[in-house]
Amino acid sequence: MTEHFEPMVIKDFTPMAGTTQWESPSNIALVKYWGKMGNQIPRNPSVSFTLQNCVTRTQIDWFEKKGNSSELDFYFEGKLKPSFGQRIQKLIATIAEQNTVLNQYSFRISSTNTFPHSSGIASSASAMSACAAGIIDMLRQIREAQDSNPWDEDYFKQQISFYSRLGSGSACRSIYPNAALWGEVSPDLGSNLWATPLDHLLHDDFRQYQDAIVIVDDSTKSVSSTMGHGLMNQHVFSKIRFEEGLRNTETMLNILRTGDISSFIDIVEREALQLHAMMMTSNPSYILIKPNTLAIIEKIRQYRQDSNVPLCFTLDAGPNVHILYPFAFRDKVKEFIETEIIELNPKMNWIADEMGLGTKQI
Ligand code: PMV
Repeated sequence: MTEHFEPMVIKDFTPMAGTTQWESPSNIALVKYWGKMGNQIPRNPSVSFTLQNCVTRTQIDWFEKKGNSSELDFYFEGKLKPSFGQRIQKLIATIAEQNTVLNQYSFRISSTNTFPHSSGIASSASAMSACAAGIIDMLRQIREAQDSNPWDEDYFKQQISFYSRLGSGSACRSIYPNAALWGEVSPDLGSNLWATPLDHLLHDDFRQYQDAIVIVDDSTKSVSSTMGHGLMNQHVFSKIRFEEGLRNTETMLNILRTGDISSFIDIVEREALQLHAMMMTSNPSYILIKPNTLAIIEKIRQYRQDSNVPLCFTLDAGPNVHILYPFAFRDKVKEFIETEIIELNPKMNWIADEMGLGTKQI
């Protein structure tokens, strides 16, 4: 007896054409990018350490587009998030301007963060760079299937950095291991379009540098970075700030080469305070630090003086304090944080992070 076989038909079924998974970290700026022009071009160069533990993991599945099927479903921690999906959609549309093959696909993108969503840690650098990496890898897979010439690895990373920058400026620095520069320092050093790796010039004393992030306040920022950058256009101190950012970048590159930790501390702390001074003196002015931000800064300076442990602080565009210090002082700094810092408010959490290897496929 021959059985009659009816194949199952799933309405509107579009087979998945490909998938890729990427992980990308957050980064912490030593010299700050604050103020931009044109299409995400920084007004001064910046330098950052790439982090290790605060990362976004993103899976991108792509499907051949059928009819009016949705172009992108974006899930964060398993839940559909159309609002952030719009930013990702914009990024994909930007990449598609040069790579029209993307228009033949729709996407399902699922993202998770290793750090708590409500920690106040800037997640756009890790989220945008993980997503850009996935889309550029998709293009690489499609191109390599066509002409089987493998892409040059440096070119691949530069593409990821270029498009991460268009998603969120500082994201372009997350691609590279340990430390990165973004912005033109001189005609033959640095680029405004993508970040430049600095790992090769790092002095041994800056290897495995630690970053303890004290979460002073975990609420969402009251003023976005986009608005803060915008206020720098009319700022009374903008010219001085942009010149200072360039000078501090030049000095920082030297410091990272020579291992001059005391000059490192000096510039890193002044850069953090200058960033917030810009916010406090913009028009309209605003204040993102909290009383405990200042209390922690005072404790850090006092402890450094008393103990000779070369720790220092920096700040992002928010109230949380990043404590930077060499690996050798890990136990001492941990004890300092747990006794002297957390006693300011026992509800505060902190995250032990350190330099990491940048964007990678998982
Ligand atoms: O990348 P954006 O647009 O979120 O701006 C980031 C700005 C700072 O984090 C405050 C400084 C920096 O260089 O990362």
